[in-house]
Amino acid sequence: MENKIVVANMKMYMNISDIKKYLNNLGVLEYENVILCPSSIYIPYFLEKNYNIGIQNVYYENNGAYTGEISVEQIRNIGIKYAIIGHSERRKYLYETDYDINKKLLKVLDNNLTAILCIGEELEDRNKMNTNSILKEQLEICLKNVSKSHEDKIIIAYEPRWSIGTGLIPGIDEISSTVEFIKSFIVDNFKIKVDVIYGGSVNEGNISLLSKIRNVDGFMIGGACVDSDKFLKILDIVYSCDKY
Ligand code: PGA
Repeated sequence: MENKIVVANMKMYMNISDIKKYLNNLGVLEYENVILCPSSIYIPYFLEKNYNIGIQNVYYENNGAYTGEISVEQIRNIGIKYAIIGHSERRKYLYETDYDINKKLLKVLDNNLTAILCIGEELEDRNKMNTNSILKEQLEICLKNVSKSHEDKIIIAYEPRWSIGTGLIPGIDEISSTVEFIKSFIVDNFKIKVDVIYGGSVNEGNISLLSKIRNVDGFMIGGACVDSDKFLKILDIVYSCDKY
């Protein structure tokens, strides 16, 4: 369906020559809801091509002595409209907490950019049937103080941590019921309706199946988006699939 959101999380992949080839291959994208999130230093090359660009992380202070960080004001100034917040790799390797993530999210929203908030459970949580309670806890803290005015500027990326980069994905009924839980929890507790996308080992082999999940509003794609041929194939399938 045309309105599905596809976020390409290129992580720390590719060097400058890869990027040039990648952009050549990608050409003009005719889909309006595709958001490309390359490594920050390569963003200007993508902006030249008029793609929708997201940054993979942002800091919550406006400016100042914060070596290595990038502010929301700085990204907004160069035309970036989206920011991934709270990706599980940052939670894991850089010890980001739900409280840090909440500060980043509010800063992004207050600057009228769109936040792509990542949440997800560990395998252990899932095995103990604790997925929903973990997600609830993450949402309660990460979304604290969001208001109705932020409604159109929040996308939730449901990414089970055990699925990222592993080739494993939950069953489609499981994804569907978890996404339903997330949507209704947010409506009940924050009185806003947001899009929820799925991420974790999405690839050209499973995208047809995943695209059939009725309540999933799109996908976040990591490893498979770095190969432009695979990524274009995924986009073709996403936007040609009819929901059942
Ligand atoms: P993956 O990553 O597609 O490589 O599993 C997804 C993500 O980290 O957003």
